[in-house]
Amino acid sequence: MARKSIQFKIHGATADVVGKTHGLTPKEWSALSREIAGIVGRLNRERDRTPYRDVPHRQGLSQLGAVLASARAKAGLFDDVVILGIGGSALGLTALKTALRTPYWNSLPREKRQGLPRVWVMDNVDPDEFATMLDLIDPKRTLVNVISKSGSTAETVSQFLLVMELLESCVGKRNLRRHVVVTTDARAGLLRPLVNEMGLESFVVPDGVGGRFSVMTPVGTFPAAMIGIDVRALLAGTRAMDKRCTAGRLDDNPAAAGAAVQIGLYRKGKTMSVMMPYAAALRDVADWYRQLWAESLGKTTAGGEQVGPTPIKALGVTDQHSQVQLYRDGPNDKVFTILSVDRFGCTLPLPQAPAGLGGADYLEGRTMKDLLKAEERATIWALAAVSKRPTTQIVLPRADAWNVGGLLYMLMVETSIAGAMLGINTYDQPGVEAGKEAARALMGVHGDISSPTAKGLPAEAASYEGLRRLIDDADV
Ligand code: PA5
Repeated sequence: MARKSIQFKIHGATADVVGKTHGLTPKEWSALSREIAGIVGRLNRERDRTPYRDVPHRQGLSQLGAVLASARAKAGLFDDVVILGIGGSALGLTALKTALRTPYWNSLPREKRQGLPRVWVMDNVDPDEFATMLDLIDPKRTLVNVISKSGSTAETVSQFLLVMELLESCVGKRNLRRHVVVTTDARAGLLRPLVNEMGLESFVVPDGVGGRFSVMTPVGTFPAAMIGIDVRALLAGTRAMDKRCTAGRLDDNPAAAGAAVQIGLYRKGKTMSVMMPYAAALRDVADWYRQLWAESLGKTTAGGEQVGPTPIKALGVTDQHSQVQLYRDGPNDKVFTILSVDRFGCTLPLPQAPAGLGGADYLEGRTMKDLLKAEERATIWALAAVSKRPTTQIVLPRADAWNVGGLLYMLMVETSIAGAMLGINTYDQPGVEAGKEAARALMGVHGDISSPTAKGLPAEAASYEGLRRLIDDADV
């Protein structure tokens, strides 16, 4: 039987439903189709300029054997896996873990985790939070995976220093190697020389694949394999979606259709983009997408125009009792993407209401899933049909590795197409680099800063001392 695929539904964002001011007319759709067919054609021809698209094929597969062998060899040896990384080096794994592992994974007893380790994704440098995590783990039974494409991000390096000190004091310098895996660039950064010096196990973040596009590389696949996620299925789903994403027609290419709606409506004043999953499993997909979209598209064009839709994450049904009031009655400046799942692990039948709770009779014979689905449908109807808010829907047959791989990949390609439509460089992040350099300057780093403007800094910030002075003088 043929596998059901992810569906993208745009009806709620068309002028038919939300009117000409807020939705796309057939004429606009045809113009977007022509524009995007050209972009997709170019992306297909120039795949070497977007190396992440090679990851589910050659790049990803070349390391898959080593990833799986390493995870297999470590089975049963560790109770905890600690991930040190930030931004694109953390959010993809978090999305995979929430989507593809049982809820409350770390709180489950070991047998309910099939003996697999707990996982801690440490993507901050809050001292209280980090110290608490260190207290919760037994270093002798812990594997640390430090992940940094650049190999020099201050947050990740500082975490690594603390963890190395703890490991060394508990397992001894000689045994450190058994507890550390490094995922970083093949050559650049501070971590690769350490790998070579200490003989640490390592994986490579492929050249040209930035953090936010790296979830299908060992950045995501190694820790995912450590907690039993089917990474073969993940990559297979990604490959199947890649095929769909090469199609020139919007009807056949969900990434292209997504970009058409998002950027088509951005040009009509919908400057915010809300992603609202109706499945707790996909909650962190929205968080991952928020970074992918913001860091890729929030840019200044060569002509000096500042562009980029603001991504917002929400969660159905929880945020129906929070943000939906604003979404329905506040400014009509948003486009909504509802993420839906057809099949859940269970449906949870609702029991008969006790005497005295007569008003709850309507729930009898229904399931918790029925209620979730009713609320999802009602929200789409209220947003689009009643309040005229453009609303699309992405439907997953189920939240399994194949579909989640496909979904993440589809959103990456959608981002590439959107970036081309906006006329910006989707793959750099000068605003983020500037923050990294400024933090380094304030922490006392000395010496020259090469190409400060390319890093989003003023030209005068040619050294860390100069940058420190600029920050002090600004007195903000
Ligand atoms: O997506 C990106 O490029 C960024 O969010 C990076 O992942 C983040 O800044 C961490 O960088 P690195 O992996 O080099 O430590």
